[in-house]
Amino acid sequence: MIVVTTPTGQIGREVLARLLDAGEGSVPVRVIARDPAALAPQVRERVEVVQGSHADPGVLKEACQGADQVFWLLPPNPAAPDSEAYYGAFTDRLCEVIEAQGMERVVAVSTLGRGVARNAGMISAGLAMDERIAATGVHYRALCPPALMENTLRQAAAIRDTGVFATPHVTDRVLRLCATRDVGAAAARLLLDDSWTGRADVPLVSADDLTPEGMAAVLAEVLGRPVRTRFVPVTELGAGLLRTGAVEGWVRSYADMVTAQNEQGFYGVSQLPTPDLAPTTFRQWCEEVLRPATEA
Ligand SMILES: NC(=O)c1ccc[n+]([C@@H]2O[C@H](COP(=O)([O-])OP(=O)(O)OC[C@H]3O[C@@H](n4cnc5c(N)ncnc54)[C@H](OP(=O)(O)O)[C@@H]3O)[C@@H](O)[C@H]2O)c1
Repeated sequence: MIVVTTPTGQIGREVLARLLDAGEGSVPVRVIARDPAALAPQVRERVEVVQGSHADPGVLKEACQGADQVFWLLPPNPAAPDSEAYYGAFTDRLCEVIEAQGMERVVAVSTLGRGVARNAGMISAGLAMDERIAATGVHYRALCPPALMENTLRQAAAIRDTGVFATPHVTDRVLRLCATRDVGAAAARLLLDDSWTGRADVPLVSADDLTPEGMAAVLAEVLGRPVRTRFVPVTELGAGLLRTGAVEGWVRSYADMVTAQNEQGFYGVSQLPTPDLAPTTFRQWCEEVLRPATEA
């Protein structure tokens, strides 16, 4: 039995779709969903559903009963005042279940930055999650993407209408990228393979060698209109997040993350691409995902 958290999220739904495709119904899957109605009907009828949040110890315990593998993802939460405590509480619940009920393998979404990132807000919190889970002794793979291409999706309409691609990242320095579909595919492959053991990071880095300015050039070509970057300093970014309802502690953690990304280089050119594991290029993603979103 494979337990899938966040089955309605960008990455979780990719994992789930691939597990269901690959197994043709033969791989039993149980999902934890706060709102099962948000699952597509054709998905809902092929999985067991435990309703609730994986932050809830009772829900997680029930979902993991008799399961040997978990796909684990910490959901971003702009209402959490302390991201370290927020991620830590989720992780403690999982570790308690692993220690009490047993679990063969965990595949989790983490991030690039191990051994390099310092005071990096939610990135540091995500990397701490890996240490805590691995310390239980469970066989563990941490999927480590850099910036998700889907971050750009939030401003699809603005890019289409104004030709401005806003970014808090230094605009002339390489920013490594990965599409959520490739994170989902890597997770599903690992969950369907019972031959691996121990602990490892799995870097997921597309073949792109783009700076944000280079990303704007690709956006311009794919959308058929001029697109330029606008650098957004963290103070402006934070003020914008507060206006959308994020609490101060979360905004601080977000700002720390972006500052660390800009200053410490762990999403930068020194990270080697892994195109076998992350085959989607930014151009392909723009053609297949972003452009349709701007046309919707
Ligand atoms: N963005 C980046 O550049 C980047 C880079 C590296 C790593 N990451 C990591 O990637 C992950 C983001 O994944 P994603 O894009 O799939 O996220 P997402 O699309 O925001 O999905 C998260 C899902 O979690 C569920 N959720 C939200 N709050 C919850 C709660 N309190 N309890 C249980 N479920 C909850 C939501 O589903 P419902 O609302 O339906 O319940 C949502 O669909 C994060 O862990 C992040 O740290 C991101």
